[in-house]
Amino acid sequence: MTVATARRMDKLGRSEIREILKLTLKPDIISFAGGLPAPELFPVEEIKSVTQDLLSRHGRQVLQYSTTEGFYPFREIIAARANDNFQTKLTGDDITIVTGSQQALDLAGKIFIDEGDAVLLESPSYLGAINAFKPYGPRFAEVAMDENGMIPAELEKTLKAVGRAKLLYMTPDFQNPTGRTLSLERRKHIIEIINKYNLPLIEDNPYGELRFEGERLPALKALDTKGLVIYNGTFSKILSPGLRQGYVAAAHDLLELFITVKQSSDLHTSELNQRIVYEYLLKYDIKEHIKRLIALYKSRLDAIIKSMEEEFPPEVSFTRPEGGLFLWVVLPEKIDAGKLLVKCLEEKVAFVPGFSFYPNGGQRNTLRINYSNMPEDRIKEGIKRLAAVFRKALKA
Ligand SMILES: Cc1ncc(COP(=O)(O)O)c(C=O)c1O
Repeated sequence: MTVATARRMDKLGRSEIREILKLTLKPDIISFAGGLPAPELFPVEEIKSVTQDLLSRHGRQVLQYSTTEGFYPFREIIAARANDNFQTKLTGDDITIVTGSQQALDLAGKIFIDEGDAVLLESPSYLGAINAFKPYGPRFAEVAMDENGMIPAELEKTLKAVGRAKLLYMTPDFQNPTGRTLSLERRKHIIEIINKYNLPLIEDNPYGELRFEGERLPALKALDTKGLVIYNGTFSKILSPGLRQGYVAAAHDLLELFITVKQSSDLHTSELNQRIVYEYLLKYDIKEHIKRLIALYKSRLDAIIKSMEEEFPPEVSFTRPEGGLFLWVVLPEKIDAGKLLVKCLEEKVAFVPGFSFYPNGGQRNTLRINYSNMPEDRIKEGIKRLAAVFRKALKA
């Protein structure tokens, strides 16, 4: 680079893993590395029909600039859906539309993080959140989790140790990367802890509606008593990521901050795309659409678990999620998943090494698997190839 850039850019650096993952996009590779929804279920005809209708009826309005908060009737429907699904008590006034839930993470970094502040998150955590917060220079404090999500006693211990904590970030439902879900008792306990420390919590919930079995749990936002929970939702995984429609629900003083920083970021989220999703929700039954997604993803999850049970050596363990798009594999400690990925690419199969999801490094014996994006025969073949590489590595 021949020009001088801001110091914050040094924090981002070039990611070695990003370079390797580019190779996973080649068509002949069976890739468990992505996180893409199944494109065969995108409601293309329905979106085409509502878009044509919108442009005929409201063309001049939907192509114009609009408000930062977003289209009010759309916000009302979003509030009603969250109340129905996750026991929240929101109204349209509690919601702001954002350009994908990823934007809310960047805005949260801008709002909350000064250089050196502690940001607490699950260990491991969503890579996109880590990268969104990184330029603001936080100290990442990782909080241990187990099969029931973040461990509240560990959260409290970490809070006492770090000092000046500004933000807690978590994905309580079918977490990216592990597929784990936070239990109800722990949700309640975590609310008690954030209340005690007056700590804002971002509840990132892109996968909650993709539950394949078991009962839906209330959102942390539904249990929030002090207005500390900032709920982050999206249509990416239940409708289309390309439309970039996300939303933030928060207490009005906090929501105001999101609106202020969003204004200087992109003025507002595409009015046309907001209205497309709004009209879709009015005209079609999204619950039926989600049922179809769940049926497909569940069959893919069942297929991958069956293959992993049959093929993986006994020393390799993995999570069994009740929903979402990902599961997590733990190898014996001596094995480095980064080195394995290079070997796997030779065999034309790919995954994301787990160390990318630990902001402070380590845990090189872990990896993330996505199962939503390919048919069952490819899944079966891909797991066979992975298992063969695992077996070789274990013998070495
Ligand atoms: C946990 C989590 N949060 C946020 C996002 C970003 O989603 P969006 O498409 O709404 O920006 C993703 C995408 O994979 C995710 O896994």
